Amino acid sequence: MTQARIIDGKQVAADLRDSVAARTAQLSYKPGLAVVLVGEDPASSVYVRSKDRAANAAGIAARTIRLPATTTQPELLAVVHGLNADDSVDGILVQLPLPAHIESRPVLEAIDPAKDVDGFHPVNVGRLHEGRPTLVPCTPLGVMKLLAATGVNLRGARALVLGRSAIVGKPMAALLTAADATVTIAHSRTRDLPAECRRAEILVAAVGRAEMVRADWVAPGAVVIDVGINRLPDGRLVGDVAYDECAAVAGAITPVPGGVGPMTIACLLENTLLAAEARRR
Ligand code: GUN
Repeated sequence: MTQARIIDGKQVAADLRDSVAARTAQLSYKPGLAVVLVGEDPASSVYVRSKDRAANAAGIAARTIRLPATTTQPELLAVVHGLNADDSVDGILVQLPLPAHIESRPVLEAIDPAKDVDGFHPVNVGRLHEGRPTLVPCTPLGVMKLLAATGVNLRGARALVLGRSAIVGKPMAALLTAADATVTIAHSRTRDLPAECRRAEILVAAVGRAEMVRADWVAPGAVVIDVGINRLPDGRLVGDVAYDECAAVAGAITPVPGGVGPMTIACLLENTLLAAEARRR
């Protein structure tokens, strides 16, 4: 039934990692990345290990700072300040979610914007929304690279972002706008969500609800990018898009896993390289 072209995120991500490794090898120093993990959330531990491994494979000196779940907010802020002051560190990433007793905003705002490889600091958020060059959040940046690899012409195209989170939806909309798409942000309160989605030539789903986007939400030939990663009770990993039925309608679609996921880490490596180049110029 599949008619859509399958967008191979694993391949695009491997190419980007190779390109980062080649550019890093030309430098007279090793870019440094510090990943901070508080507590023992199993999913976060897996992500952090993958980030560490991919970074070191690309010639980045990565280290993970593991802190106990009982770490206090002032203790975590002190770690961040220490990393800000450490000249060998070009990129700082504090893995989210943080334990419930720690407020994430003050922690993210403590990170030096020049080392903010997540692009979550308000200074970088502001620059992105002004359309100025800055460190851009890795997941939406990865989506832009997948769209480029697919050869989608964004200029004037109707794009819809489903989800308005600070980590994906909002920066995604800003990047698509900067690329001259006509952007709609839709969310749980949007009236007639299926009809809104069906108008889109490019549909980016980032709501975190398993298989919410159905075939009749997708315009024939549309490009569908699925940012969601949801685990079903039976253990299967699925996206926010009902893949099989939507692949029968879409023109191109990302699988889960193997679509957006691998791009996030590859973009983190590129952001670390860009931060290092900008800091050490
Ligand atoms: N947790 C899930 N995704 C992310 C991300 O992109 N950055 C950070 N810091 N934590 C996350």
